[in-house]
Amino acid sequence: MEVIIQPTPEEAADVAAQFVAGVLEKKPDAVLGLATGNTPLGLYRRLIAMKLDWKKVTTFNIDEYVGLAPDHPQSYRAFMWANLFRHVNIAKENVHIPDGNAKNIPEFCTEYEQRIKDAGGIDLQILGIGSNGHIGFNEPTSSLTSRTRIKTLTEQTRNDNARFFRNEAEVPLHVVTMGIGTIMEARQNLLLAFGSSKARAVAMAIEGSITSLNPASALQMHPDVKVCLDDAAAQDLQWKQYYQSTYQNKPDWQRF
Ligand code: GLP
Repeated sequence: MEVIIQPTPEEAADVAAQFVAGVLEKKPDAVLGLATGNTPLGLYRRLIAMKLDWKKVTTFNIDEYVGLAPDHPQSYRAFMWANLFRHVNIAKENVHIPDGNAKNIPEFCTEYEQRIKDAGGIDLQILGIGSNGHIGFNEPTSSLTSRTRIKTLTEQTRNDNARFFRNEAEVPLHVVTMGIGTIMEARQNLLLAFGSSKARAVAMAIEGSITSLNPASALQMHPDVKVCLDDAAAQDLQWKQYYQSTYQNKPDWQRF
């Protein structure tokens, strides 16, 4: 796990954007796993400004609410089109987002996993983290080998996400999310976290025990993970200085 700490979210998003751009330059037909939420917005804005070629890129979003109309402003489909897809030259047929309105959700989830396999697997999965350590919508106690499936949100997550809705009651109870097993099969993972509200979850994920009580801790078992943090999200890390000096002393050939 490579932990990269920058003073501000803007600087951390700069580093993340350089890294993602490098992946797309090396592999123009890369398969990207994408996340929603506030955290990746700065990254998406930078990728748009870089005017990269998305013509051959395929994307799979990590999660979606169950039961929101696809054009509901808080559906992750609407979010992705508004904040990324409509600003780049991606082919519509290469965009995959879980269908929270599928008639048969378990069947849809099996198909979604198959579509990822058929695309050759995910090259780079972009992740945010919930204040309770969730990745995608894999809430605490999710199986660390889980696959795409329906999940019930915790009270804490519904509360955290209520800011996007008129009130907490409007936040759907159910979601479809890639599983932790799905995320672990991505060739690379890039986790972003900003702000002090994420500090505890981040410290547990990077330095705590591997436990389903903090689903992001499963990433300790993945061979290629980068974590981009701002100072506030890194404040509870015991090994913060070590990560900072490792990054500063990184040989040029390892830079992206
Ligand atoms: C949301 C999403 C996650 C996201 C996380 C953090 O509920 N389902 O994919 O990474 O919670 O969100 P934010 O970036 O807004 O803090």
